[in-house]
Amino acid sequence: MPTGRVFTTGQIAALARKRLPRAIFDFVEGGAGSEAAVARNRARFEQIALMPQALRDCSAAHSEVTIFGRRYAAPFGVAPMGFADLVRPGTDRALAAAAKAQNIPYVLSTAATTSIETIAAIAQDNLWFQLYPGSDEATAASLMERALKAGVTTLVATIDIPVPGKRPRDLVNGLAIPLRPSLRTVLDVAMHPAWGLRALFGERLGMANFVENKGSLSGLAHAEFVSRQLSSAGLDWKRLERIRQAWPHHLVIKGILNPQDAVMAERIGADGIVVSNHGGRQLDSAPSSIEVLPAIREACGDRLTLILDSGVRSGDDIARSLASGADFVLLGRPFLFAVAALGLARGPDAIIDILRAEFLNTLIHLGCADPTELGRDHLWPENQISLRQGSNR
Ligand SMILES: Cc1cc2nc3c(=O)[nH]c(=O)nc-3n(C[C@H](O)[C@H](O)[C@H](O)COP(=O)(O)O)c2cc1C
Repeated sequence: MPTGRVFTTGQIAALARKRLPRAIFDFVEGGAGSEAAVARNRARFEQIALMPQALRDCSAAHSEVTIFGRRYAAPFGVAPMGFADLVRPGTDRALAAAAKAQNIPYVLSTAATTSIETIAAIAQDNLWFQLYPGSDEATAASLMERALKAGVTTLVATIDIPVPGKRPRDLVNGLAIPLRPSLRTVLDVAMHPAWGLRALFGERLGMANFVENKGSLSGLAHAEFVSRQLSSAGLDWKRLERIRQAWPHHLVIKGILNPQDAVMAERIGADGIVVSNHGGRQLDSAPSSIEVLPAIREACGDRLTLILDSGVRSGDDIARSLASGADFVLLGRPFLFAVAALGLARGPDAIIDILRAEFLNTLIHLGCADPTELGRDHLWPENQISLRQGSNR
């Protein structure tokens, strides 16, 4: 497929599959276990029908939304993704630059191979920082301090890794710690020389946000330290409460599916949550975010800002999420595939353009001029009730 002729995230993913060594494509695309949660994320979105409404003046329709006191160009942002530069050196930076230019949030992962300071200089006030609180409170405190100094005002604490997800594709490819690439993986890299050369001659990837701890530890001990720090094992709500007290700006808790956990997040004073099953990468039998979202909205009312991720692939999915109770969404894999398929210079802007244009198109079909007009009335068949009652928003 020529790169000028991609119009959807599906086409971009198909092109990325050709461009990347199999192990890297699998690392990004793969999920936990049988990948039932990954499939469920898509299936549940596709089951939601949105009811159009005709002859409403949408000539001034726009995609802008306000979240955490800040106006953004569209109701979506880039989800935090560790090791994004495996796709191509410079991926974190290119995505951050496009997010800034097009005014959407860029969430930098604790596990990124680019430092908070480097990305803050690029994304500026469009940067959110994702924290794995981890077992070592001093390390978490130092990451928060660095984020604060870099001007971050939205901190996203991820809590859905009590144990690492079991991802069979990575195990087969030998893409796990310690790294033991299979022969097939080595041969496959040889078949993708452009990727191989960039990996060989580009900058060495390292855990850029853990430099402080590195000096005192051996290589393996450092890797073990980092992997403990990326886990939420041993954390409890008291710990999250201490993070709440220490962080002076907006706090978002990422990785919630259970309405009771959403209520707890609200109780400890979080400003928002990310309703997420980690893109199906953790618990294979987890429900999809989109199916639990209405129950979470019901449990929290308007007191929490609800951000949804996992399986969002189109403007329709963004509208489905907002109509089902979300204020905002994040996407993960599509951004990495855009870089793989279209390159650093074109990929990030192209994917943002595609998603924003699709979302606006859907919004207008639904008879809305502003994203905040989306609501349960747009969900079919749920809107039958209000139609019968003669509601005419
Ligand atoms: C390659 C990859 C790395 C990820 N790394 C992180 C991470 O470091 N921190 C985190 O909170 N979530 C991480 N996630 C999960 C994403 O933030 C997000 O929840 C998920 O990708 C959303 O699903 P989607 O990819 O279907 O859009 C990662 C996801 C992928 C695909």
